[in-house]
Amino acid sequence: MHNILIVDDEVSIRDSLKDVLEEEGYKTAGAESGEACLEALREHSFDVVLLDVWLPGMDGLETLEKIREMEAASEVIMISGHGTIETAVRATKLGAYDFLEKPLSIDKTLIVIKNAVDAKRLRAENRDLKKQLIPRNVIVGESVPMKALRQQIQIMAPTNGRVLIYGESGTGKELVAHAIHLNSQRKDEMFVEVNCAAIPEDLIESELFGHRKGCFPGALADKEGKFQKAHGGTMFLDEIGDMSLKTQSKVLRTLEDQRFVPVGSDEAVTVDARVIASTNKDLDEEISKGNFREDLFYRLNVIPFSVPPLREHKEDIPLLVRHFLREFAAAYGRRSREITDDAIEVLMRYSWPGNVRELRNVMERIVIMNPAAVRVERKHLPPLIQRDGGRRSAGSEFSTLHQARVAYERDYILKKLDENYGNVSRTAEVLGLERSHLYRKMRSLGIAAKES
Ligand SMILES: Nc1ncnc2c1ncn2[C@@H]1O[C@H](COP(=O)(O)OP(=O)(O)OP(=O)(O)O)[C@@H](O)[C@H]1O
Ligand SMILES: [Mg+2]
Repeated sequence: MHNILIVDDEVSIRDSLKDVLEEEGYKTAGAESGEACLEALREHSFDVVLLDVWLPGMDGLETLEKIREMEAASEVIMISGHGTIETAVRATKLGAYDFLEKPLSIDKTLIVIKNAVDAKRLRAENRDLKKQLIPRNVIVGESVPMKALRQQIQIMAPTNGRVLIYGESGTGKELVAHAIHLNSQRKDEMFVEVNCAAIPEDLIESELFGHRKGCFPGALADKEGKFQKAHGGTMFLDEIGDMSLKTQSKVLRTLEDQRFVPVGSDEAVTVDARVIASTNKDLDEEISKGNFREDLFYRLNVIPFSVPPLREHKEDIPLLVRHFLREFAAAYGRRSREITDDAIEVLMRYSWPGNVRELRNVMERIVIMNPAAVRVERKHLPPLIQRDGGRRSAGSEFSTLHQARVAYERDYILKKLDENYGNVSRTAEVLGLERSHLYRKMRSLGIAAKES
C-alpha cells in the first residue's frame, strides 16, 4: 500500500484529503508544519508528500529544500492557495514533482498522486538497474594474502584446469570464480552458476542437464541444462558439498566423458565447460562420512584454491569499507561519504564471522539508514560491532586459546613454507608431517598452496 504524508496547517484540509485518499486505498499520515513533516520523514518513508507552500514557521519551499537534503526518496507535490508562476518554478527547480492549486480538485489530485507514485517506482527500478551495472568483479585488498590470491588467479586462470575453491561463507569464493573466468580464454563465453545448496534435490538434475518435454509432469517443453549453456565457457558449481550423491555421480560421469544425457532423452550431448567448484565444507570430512564421492573430489580438486577469512586480512578493512561506501553511495544516488579513523578502528577489532559479505551488508545498511550523514562515525555502526569491536583487549588480540593457537600455527607454517620456497612436500618433511596432512592443515588455516 502506498504511503502519503499530508502537510498542511489547516486541520480541515488534512482531514478531507485523508478521507479521500484512504478511500482510494492509500495509507496517510498528517503533519501540521514543515518541522513536523521532516520529523515524520525521519521516522517513516513515504511514497508521496503533499506539501502546502504556506506554512507557519518553516515554509513549504524551505521544507522541500530540507527534504531533498535528507535525500528522502519521496516524491513531493506542492499545494498552494496563492500559486504564482515563480513559486511553481522554484518548487520544480528544488525537485518538486508537481504543483496543485487550492481549492483542490479531487480528480486532479488523485491523478497527480498516481503519477507521482509511478514516477517513484520507475526511479527505484532505474536505480536497481544501475546497481546491477556497477562492476562487482574487483577483488579489493592489498594485504599479503589478497595479493597472493590475485597472483594465483593470474597464473591459473588461463589454464583449463578445474578449480576447487575453499573458504568460509562470505569470503569471496564466487568473486574469485568469476575472476578466474574473466582472466581465462573463455572470458567471452558464458559464466554459468548453479547453487547446489539452493536447488531442491528433485530439480537439480534437470537444472544441470536439461530435460525433454513430457519426461515428468510439469516438463511442458524441452529445457536446456546449465551444462549446455556453459558450453565453451565456465560452469561454476557453488556449494558443491551440498550436492546429493546421486547428482554427484552424474556430474562425475559428465566430467569423465565430457558428455551427458538430458533427463528423459536417449541422446548424449557433448559439452566442453571448465568446471570451477566451491565449498565451505571440509570435503575430506564429508568423504569420510560418506557424503561426498572421493573420485569426484579428485576430479574437481585439480587446482585447490583457498580464500582466507576476513579476520586473517584485517588490514584490508579500510580499503574494503571505502570501496563499499562508494559502491552504495552510487547505487542509492547518495553523496559519497568519509569514515572516521575511530570507526575504522572499531571495524578492525570486530571478528567478522560473516566475512566480507557481512562487512558489505553493514556498509549498505549504513548508507541506507543515514541518508544525510556526511561522515560515518562510530555511532553509526551496528550495536553488536560497536560492542565487540570497541573492546580493547588487554595486551593480547586473541580472546581464546584456540584463536591464539590457530594464529601461531598459521604464522609458523607460512614461515616454514617461505623457507622452503613454497614447496609443500619439502615443508612437510621438515615439519615431520605427511604431505596430505600438511595440505589439510593449510586448507583449514586458509593458506593457499603455491604452484610448484
Ligand atoms: N576482496 C573483495 N573485494 C571486494 N568485494 C568482495 C571481496 N570479497 C568479497 N566481496 C564481496 O562480498 C560479497 C560476498 O562474496 P561472495 O559471494 O563471493 O562470497 P562467497 O564466499 O561465495 O560466499 P557464500 O559462501 O556465502 O556464498 C560479494 O558481494 C562480493 O562481491
Ligand atoms: Mg557463494
